Amino acid sequence: MAHSSSCRPCFHMAWYLCLYFVIESRVALHVAGAAKAPPQPAVGNISKVEDARLFQIYYGQSFKVLKNSVDGKSYLLMQDNSKMASRTKYCTGRIKSFVVPLSNYSVDTTNSPLSFFELLGVTESLKGITSDEITSQCVLQLYSSGNLQLVNRTNIQQFSQFNAHFLTNVDEEQACNFAAYAPSDETTPLEKAEWIKYLGTFTNSELKANVVYDAIKSNYVCLSKAAASLRSRFKPVVAWLEYKQGIWSFSKENYKLQYVTDAGGENIDSSITSNIYNVSDPEERDSFHAILCTLDVVIDQTNVPDTTEYTLTTFLENINVGDDSCFGFVTNQSVWRYDKRALGPMTLDWYDGAISQPQIVLADLIEAFFPTGNYTTTYFRNLAKEEGVIKVGPEMCNRDISAPMEPIIVPCQ
Ligand SMILES: *[C@@H]1O[C@H](CO)[C@@H](O)[C@H](O)[C@H]1NC(C)=O
Ligand SMILES: *[C@@H]1O[C@H](CO)[C@@H](O)[C@H](O)[C@H]1NC(C)=O
Ligand SMILES: *[C@@H]1O[C@H](CO)[C@@H](O)[C@H](O)[C@H]1NC(C)=O
Ligand SMILES: *[C@@H]1O[C@H](CO)[C@@H](O)[C@H](O)[C@H]1NC(C)=O
Ligand SMILES: *[C@@H]1O[C@H](CO)[C@@H](O)[C@H](O)[C@H]1NC(C)=O
Ligand SMILES: *[C@@H]1O[C@H](CO)[C@@H](O)[C@H](O)[C@H]1NC(C)=O
Repeated sequence: MAHSSSCRPCFHMAWYLCLYFVIESRVALHVAGAAKAPPQPAVGNISKVEDARLFQIYYGQSFKVLKNSVDGKSYLLMQDNSKMASRTKYCTGRIKSFVVPLSNYSVDTTNSPLSFFELLGVTESLKGITSDEITSQCVLQLYSSGNLQLVNRTNIQQFSQFNAHFLTNVDEEQACNFAAYAPSDETTPLEKAEWIKYLGTFTNSELKANVVYDAIKSNYVCLSKAAASLRSRFKPVVAWLEYKQGIWSFSKENYKLQYVTDAGGENIDSSITSNIYNVSDPEERDSFHAILCTLDVVIDQTNVPDTTEYTLTTFLENINVGDDSCFGFVTNQSVWRYDKRALGPMTLDWYDGAISQPQIVLADLIEAFFPTGNYTTTYFRNLAKEEGVIKVGPEMCNRDISAPMEPIIVPCQ
């Protein structure tokens, strides 16, 4: 079994790598077989991918192979105390090598989340970021205490000082130590969250990654089951919408639709969501208003230069309506934005902390769909109740920076 699963990746791997892999997995098999015990990992701590689709992990005795569908490469991670690590370096079109655990690394914080590294508890080895527009309060504190350098992302030579540089955008020029890291490319909330296991392989933090992911996933699943039983006679109908240059459109991103169903809501019909509406055009405006009249909850994800100034009035002005009396989400006060936690006008924690901890997003949405008044949302603010933006800052870091961030487990029976 282990044998056949170890052979599949060989098709895409250079022969030398594959040879190592097959030999080592046979040794592992042999050892496990001889002991006649429940299969023990012969290689220390391992992570198994359950949900994510864009990466796979294989283990040898003194190395691991990450197969990454984001950049189409295999990464050979060699343990620093192995002979292989001192002799081997790959940087080809299909294979890159890294020595693990990384003693230091940098992250392209322009578009990659940091919260996964915090959950793993490896921010002490974080030595470089490409932007200080980040929503992690403890990394902000590291930065303000001078322990972290800001590196210009266009100057790729500068990243050679780090053992690895993690980045989401793989279309740009890549150096040998660049590692693709793209939870945002996955299509469901849990798939995204499982990228903690990907990062864990680089720091030998597999056990931590497994514990955190298990806790998050079981909380997510529990909340989702609870939400399914909460539903009243009809599920609330929900739409994510966005206004841009005179046009309103409905979001069809898969993970957002998934959040709605997992939180016990119903997405606006997909035959409707294929449309966009120009609100200056009287006919289109009418059709748009008619659809709005069928909604119970709206999530307005409109991008604006200053999110703190976005209020219910802004929303109503943008939908350009004289009479809002047919809008259930106005009457019932359920107009939301996911910008409650932000560093500044455009830097939202939705793009960082919310990706690694989807159980909090789910709990927020359940409260939005089935209000109890007993739960304070983290990522969503209700425009209809004049909730404001909470500005994050380094002073909000409330843990020892060398300690891992604990995932927030929402009470759930
Ligand atoms: C397994 O993980 C534990 C806890 O993180 C660590 O102490 C131990 O060194 C790891 N073992 C190996 C072989 O990596
Ligand atoms: C990262 O670690 C390497 C050794 O593995 C060291 O040579 C390098 O100076 C370190 N870089 C930084 C920025 O600390
Ligand atoms: C980064 O480097 C590029 C080219 O070297 C330069 O044009 C740009 O101004 C630099 N950006 C910052 C923020 O220093
Ligand atoms: C929206 O409709 C108005 C009036 O019909 C038109 O002038 C405008 O160009 C349209 N905007 C877009 C983006 O199509
Ligand atoms: C407001 O919410 C209540 C309870 O969820 C529901 O019965 C009622 O129909 C809603 N009102 C509107 C106008 O949607
Ligand atoms: C709010 O919490 C209290 C105490 O935990 C509980 O008794 C009550 O039923 C909750 N209310 C709702 C609407 O869930």
